[in-house]
Amino acid sequence: MSLPLEWERYRLRAEEALERQRLKWRGPETLLDAMSYSVEAGGKRLRPALLLAACDACGAALSDPSAAACAVEYVHTYSLIHDDLPAMDNDTLRRGKPTNHVVFGEALAILAGDALLAEAFRALSGAYAEKPEVSAALLCELAQAASACGLVGGQVLDMQNGGNVQIAREALENLHAMKTGALIRCAVRMGAFLTGADEARLVALTRYAEKIGLAFQVTDDILDVTASAAELGKSVGKDAQQAKTTFVDLLGLDGAKSYAAELVAEALAELQSFGPRAQALREIAEFIVERKY
Ligand code: IPE
Ligand code: IPE
Ligand code: MG
Ligand code: MG
Ligand code: MG
Repeated sequence: MSLPLEWERYRLRAEEALERQRLKWRGPETLLDAMSYSVEAGGKRLRPALLLAACDACGAALSDPSAAACAVEYVHTYSLIHDDLPAMDNDTLRRGKPTNHVVFGEALAILAGDALLAEAFRALSGAYAEKPEVSAALLCELAQAASACGLVGGQVLDMQNGGNVQIAREALENLHAMKTGALIRCAVRMGAFLTGADEARLVALTRYAEKIGLAFQVTDDILDVTASAAELGKSVGKDAQQAKTTFVDLLGLDGAKSYAAELVAEALAELQSFGPRAQALREIAEFIVERKY
């Protein structure tokens, strides 16, 4: 199964940006190799695609969005390297390849994750210095998404979600909003910041992003039950193995699927005023729940 046309178009733009940004990395070769291994392993490039598509939906960018697109993908990739570590999900397959620590060892995998996180902020601060207000907004947005009240906090809540004590729906939504939603929301908002979008557009795009972020993790939970490792490029059945509460537990498989579809419909409604320029954001939202990987 391949990505829909618009998402694929933005995925290719993200790949080009990542290749160019890679030339700016400096450091010990073994470390850069470990970082490249995971960044270049591919993936759907959802977050940079969203950033670029949100930018286009709002109009002309004030500065080239490429570095910002790379920055969100670096934070995402770092989070995957750490998520797969033995101390966390202890996974051996990611993006169809052995996980970072399997190839480079645990210590280097931790450090490659650390360096990617830092490289994200280096890329951002280097690229937008001539527009201090835009630069500050982008840095602050990404820092917040990566922080204890975003992705890392969500990972901690996720760690505590396990061991057969079912958590309530509200708590699960909050966990997902932090673990996965924060970076997706941040990607869309960074795209909007790069165009100087007005408050109304920012609010609509933020709501769109929050809905698709949740739909994305609901679908991740569904695929963990329904897909194969070959299709997904990562191991399956992990949530049950770790006795985590998921939306599939709370709503059943069909219930989780209808909930994800409902969220996408609500996300699409937020894009009404954007017209044809938001077509890519629409396609991405629709495919988030149809995807098989
Ligand atoms: C996987 O994210 C981790 C989650 C947040 C659910 P993706 O499904 O976007 O992973 P890649 O980037 O395509 O590998
Ligand atoms: C990981 O969530 C989310 C982050 C890395 C922040 P999961 O543990 O569900 O992701 P997968 O299923 O391993 O991709
Ligand atoms: Mg995990
Ligand atoms: Mg995992
Ligand atoms: Mg998962």
